[in-house]
Amino acid sequence: MTKKYQDLRSARWFAPDDLRSFGHRSRAMQMGLGPEDWDGKPVIAVINTWSEAQPCHMHFRDRAEFVKKGILQAGGMPMELPAHSLSEQFLKPTSMLYRNMVAMEVEELLRAHPVDGAVLMGGCDKSTPALVMGAVSMGIPFIYLPAGPMLRGNYAGRTLGSGSDAFKFWDERRAGTIGKEEWQGIEGGIARSYGHCMTMGTASTMTAIAEGFGLCLPGASSIPAPDVNHQRMSAACGRRIVDMVWEDLTPDRIITPASTRNATVVAMATGCSTNAIIHLIAMARRAGVDWGLDDLDRIGHEVPVLANIRPSGKEYLMEDFFYAGGLRALMNELGDKLDLSCLTVTGKPLGEGLAGAKNHNPDVIRPLSNPVYHEGSLAVLRGNLAPDGAVIKPAACDPKFHRHAGPAIVADSYAEMKKIIDDPDYPMTPDHVLVLRNAGPHGGPGMPEWGMIPMPKALLKDGHRDMVRLSDARMSGTSFGACVLHVAPESFVGGPLALIENGDIIELDVAARALNVRVGDDELARRRAAWTPPAPRYERGYGWMFLKHIEQADKGCDFDFLRHEFGGPTPEPEI
Ligand code: FES
Ligand code: MG
Repeated sequence: MTKKYQDLRSARWFAPDDLRSFGHRSRAMQMGLGPEDWDGKPVIAVINTWSEAQPCHMHFRDRAEFVKKGILQAGGMPMELPAHSLSEQFLKPTSMLYRNMVAMEVEELLRAHPVDGAVLMGGCDKSTPALVMGAVSMGIPFIYLPAGPMLRGNYAGRTLGSGSDAFKFWDERRAGTIGKEEWQGIEGGIARSYGHCMTMGTASTMTAIAEGFGLCLPGASSIPAPDVNHQRMSAACGRRIVDMVWEDLTPDRIITPASTRNATVVAMATGCSTNAIIHLIAMARRAGVDWGLDDLDRIGHEVPVLANIRPSGKEYLMEDFFYAGGLRALMNELGDKLDLSCLTVTGKPLGEGLAGAKNHNPDVIRPLSNPVYHEGSLAVLRGNLAPDGAVIKPAACDPKFHRHAGPAIVADSYAEMKKIIDDPDYPMTPDHVLVLRNAGPHGGPGMPEWGMIPMPKALLKDGHRDMVRLSDARMSGTSFGACVLHVAPESFVGGPLALIENGDIIELDVAARALNVRVGDDELARRRAAWTPPAPRYERGYGWMFLKHIEQADKGCDFDFLRHEFGGPTPEPEI
């Protein structure tokens, strides 16, 4: 134990014999608490992202009670603090617009309240990075408690995966191969319990990354939300955080270059969502770890995909992954690709948390000798179209597109693109490249998940199910296809994507990590001189602030002023 009660932040609120502390104590008593609740005890924030707009976190009201039970068992005082729930499914224009807002909310919730440590409850896509980024910037000890994946989807005896199957069957519906009744059956069966998406989409990827960083108790990210082990894990988080406060186990000791590498290795081995790139960079940079696209691409070359989970894997879902041994078993398979000496929230090295983990199904969790995909799931492309990088998920697209050249069909907005893809007579071939611009951080705004442009009706009718699509947007982690994403700089701020014209030949070469447009420098310069920047999407409020400070995808889309190295340290509140 390195901390004494008088060293705790909360003691500054509750201990002094003065008028301010009289106020704090009397108002705590107004809530039915007494000195036996706070005297000599750490106060633990339970940051709860429950809301009635957040189906993935519907169980968090119940789970918060288990977290609080654990805190009380270990001699702490719980203080539940609600935070924005970042609902992936309901927020418009995109939850990504609000990730940094929630990161700010979490940082300031922790700073302003009398708390010594925190359990962060999240799971739906952006909630993981938002919570972690905010808590890392605040710097007090915390544990991340993932919501856990929902159960497998089911319709008429057929297993359904979040996102992936919605996209797949929507293409079939548009092709006329399934009818309304079947579509409605899928609607009622694809999300049949609380918990986050159970494919290896952004949510499952991000919670695995959090565990890879060492920010979760071992195994926490794989437990399905409705499994009663999740209740016990919640209480265990409550118990452990109290000790972390006494041990002063702050996040800067956990998020290091080595643990960031581990988190990246885990991401690649899960066949991770493309969104993970942006969030990983943002989370690492909040901790002062300089991490970028080249680090991700390098590790992507070295680490195969081991999790046979959709959409990169063919068969399985997160429930199967849990039964097969979960992330601990996967990390065991990775062997010396991980640095097992990294400190985790347990206070012990990562390797200790993996001891005894067994792989119960080597088809779900593949050994290194039999991977799902030989290289990592993501590749970073550069070239005259993406000087600051673009991203593709080669494992999730038809390999024939890994090397491709074809003429561009350009749309300046999603609405314009929709007209093109819904026109059964639009003149195009499967070699064409759909180009969507103005869908980046400024252009979307908020970099929406428009990157997996639905297959055009003009090609669907001939049986085609994949083609090259190119944009400065993101795509859902449950998406698939030959989609080149995150082109930086984005078109809205004058990136080269803004200069493409219909018919320009786009060249993609995944092995060479290249993305180019076959147009000469002189011609590009001529087009640039004729280009005028569009008006900003917001002129007031949060959106205005977002546009003033948002960074490009290759830097993690954080706000510039929230960077680790921006300005001096934020002072602790005094009186
Ligand atoms: Fe919440 Fe997919 S909608 S994780
Ligand atoms: Mg998603």
